Amino acid sequence: MSTPPVGISLGLTNYGDRDFSLYLRRSFAKSMGYTNASLAKPVVGIAYTPSGFNNCHRHFPELLEAVKRGVLAAGALPIDFPTISLGEAFLSPTSLKFRNLMSMDTEEMVRAQPMDAVVLMGGCDKTVPAQLMGAVSANRPAVMLIGGPMMTGRHHGERLGACTDCRRFWAQYRAGKVDQKEITEVENNLATTAGTCAVMGTASTMACLAEGLGIILPGTAAIPAVHADRLRAAEETGALAVKLIGSKLTPDKIITPKSVENALRVLLSIGGSTNAIIHLTAIAGRAGIPVSLERLNELSDTTPVLVNLKPVGNGYMEDFYAAGGMGALMRELKDLLHLDAMTITGETLGERLGFDSHAWVDRDIIAERNKPLEPQGGLVALFGNLAPQGAILKRSAADSNLFEKEGRAVVFTSLADLAARVDDPALDINPDDFMVLQNAGPHSESAMPEAGYLPIPKKLATKGLKDMVRISDARMSGTAFGTIVLHVTPDSASGGPLGLVRNGDRIKLSVKARSIHLMVDDAELKRRAGEAKVAVKPPERGYAKLYAQEILGADEGCDFGFLKPR
Ligand code: FES
Repeated sequence: MSTPPVGISLGLTNYGDRDFSLYLRRSFAKSMGYTNASLAKPVVGIAYTPSGFNNCHRHFPELLEAVKRGVLAAGALPIDFPTISLGEAFLSPTSLKFRNLMSMDTEEMVRAQPMDAVVLMGGCDKTVPAQLMGAVSANRPAVMLIGGPMMTGRHHGERLGACTDCRRFWAQYRAGKVDQKEITEVENNLATTAGTCAVMGTASTMACLAEGLGIILPGTAAIPAVHADRLRAAEETGALAVKLIGSKLTPDKIITPKSVENALRVLLSIGGSTNAIIHLTAIAGRAGIPVSLERLNELSDTTPVLVNLKPVGNGYMEDFYAAGGMGALMRELKDLLHLDAMTITGETLGERLGFDSHAWVDRDIIAERNKPLEPQGGLVALFGNLAPQGAILKRSAADSNLFEKEGRAVVFTSLADLAARVDDPALDINPDDFMVLQNAGPHSESAMPEAGYLPIPKKLATKGLKDMVRISDARMSGTAFGTIVLHVTPDSASGGPLGLVRNGDRIKLSVKARSIHLMVDDAELKRRAGEAKVAVKPPERGYAKLYAQEILGADEGCDFGFLKPR
């Protein structure tokens, strides 16, 4: 019986002669200086994502060396390969548009190239979900290595971290409380080291969810990017990838209904980013696991917020790591978690947590279960005639005085309309009004950017107004805060009721009832739906055309229809 192929003998290029294909591949591999001894080893591929357009990954060369060290010491051959990298602030119109492209790149390169296992190196917001989506679809043994968060900077004696403080200072600048000189000083000190945003934004949330899912090494989600522990985690991740070879512990054994529910519990308890709902839905969707917003609400009612980090609380990710990190958090949540969920080390979650009640925990950052920051979860889904398939509100980062409220709609029909009019002194708007942004969802030309954090109109901001109800089909940065209803589904551009709202309509929000209602009768809504619309020319070619044809709504994780399993 012949032994199954390993390493570079896997998945040969088809030249019609198998032996020739192997001979040619070995010959070309040797042009890179590999010896026969190296080429006889199993291969660990490393999906490597540094980019001059991705500041969050600027330490990846050093991290890569550590991964390779771990792979080599464990007896396999590490081979890194590039995929698309998505740097949050460098992509137009928004990085979400390209998450699925990166997932396709990852899936196809993992599947097409000869590797026995793969290490996925990601960090910035969309890179972690894109890599996990691709890895689930490729379903080869895979382990994720998170890049880790930035350290904080300093400004006039206070700590600064991207990007909650970015927004706080920008709001003060818009309100005239911070001058040009100071905002430039702040700009110089917000993001001062390698790594992802320093607060519990989307990148940190996804790192914590990856640990909740069990697809990274335990205790590694929160290690700062520049900490030596991060390099040790990289080396150990490389060694773990070697153990995965031939173990049958493929992503479909890790991403299961139980681990997805564990990840949702983690998301709620950390007061995590609203974006994570979309990403987790997409990752789970690749494994054929639905994520229901009704279930999110049930979990939210019984999951306390325990982590005191910005934008919900006061601390930064470096504090979370020093406080005990994800291990400490999940030990607090243990009776809410599926402890029999399998993890990447081959242990169950229960086994890997170990329940060491003597481990030191900083209670200023990770609260005890019976003394939570909030008794209920950070996120809540809303339903009603304005959002038949749901909308999301991050109640932990919102003003609870605005939770039970009816208001007059002030409508902006697009991002361009918002930019043109929001600071117009003649804008008819009051603090009790509800700002509504249309055509910023996944089916719009803008592809669901993080624009749901609508700026408070200057005429109100300069009078000291800090929050008001804002509603849109857009997303919001995980680092932002405010009473902001997001992901309204179906979105305006796909014919959802949000597009039928007109200036002066009344909207009723009730967080208690989990509802959002447009108080306009059905006959009038039907009449408005029949009105002629401005025709938008669809993209004619390339990825934009594929995106426009295939994008699904937020309730399906904004994945492409053809990427979901049949
Ligand atoms: Fe990369 Fe915030 S910009 S994580």
